[in-house]
Amino acid sequence: MTSNFALGIDIGGSGIKGALVDLTAGDFATERLRIDTPSESTPANVAAVVGEIVENFADQLGDGPIGITIPAIVQHGVTISAANIHESWVNCPAEQIFEDALGRDIVLVNDADAAGVAEVGFGAAKGHPGLVIVTTLGTGIGSAIIHRGVLVPNSELGHLEIDGYDAEKRAASSAREREGLKWSEYVPRLQRYYETVEFLFSPDLMVVGGGISKKADKFLPKLKLRTPIVPAQLQNRAGIVGAAWLAAAEAS
Ligand code: BGC
Repeated sequence: MTSNFALGIDIGGSGIKGALVDLTAGDFATERLRIDTPSESTPANVAAVVGEIVENFADQLGDGPIGITIPAIVQHGVTISAANIHESWVNCPAEQIFEDALGRDIVLVNDADAAGVAEVGFGAAKGHPGLVIVTTLGTGIGSAIIHRGVLVPNSELGHLEIDGYDAEKRAASSAREREGLKWSEYVPRLQRYYETVEFLFSPDLMVVGGGISKKADKFLPKLKLRTPIVPAQLQNRAGIVGAAWLAAAEAS
């Protein structure tokens, strides 16, 4: 296998998903494999599932790069936070744990950072020359800040405190589901969130990802912002593609 391929693995709250990625096309080169996230999603249990996924693609991957996403701050391979995952990831040498379990190098990145670089590399913000903020609306709110194609990692804009609330508790798509909000009730929360991000960062483009981006027509046209705001294009492929891309970039 040439260096144009890498394995991306996306660790989520309900599933751990992996696929071989064609880095020229910015898309999957194989079917995606999904395995349920262990109910006790500790680093050791998750590493065992990641091992199964790597094993599944081992023949095609050879010694190619492996990128893994996690919904946590990842600083120099250490997971610092655990907003929507098992608390044992806080201050955990996670990259090392995966490498020990797999017997090979991996690159561990925040899930939204991976999705962000994928959107700038291949999706809704492809080749954008300015300041792009990608947010993912899901269980939490993830964010990626990318300036002139360069990622500023671990921005955690889902945890901005807005009107006394941790923003993701009010504006993540899980808040809409949990509270049974109509679109007319949810849109003002998104308005408040995105106008705050816009005021603080003055991005040139904002991209909205996460499962809810499939329903972008229900909320994006209603937001009153000076910044263009568009739906993500890679949908649930973004984390895997971005992780693979970042791993390959680090290997080169
Ligand atoms: C976490 C982030 C993550 C986001 C999306 C937030 O709660 O703090 O690290 O990127 O959820 O999963």
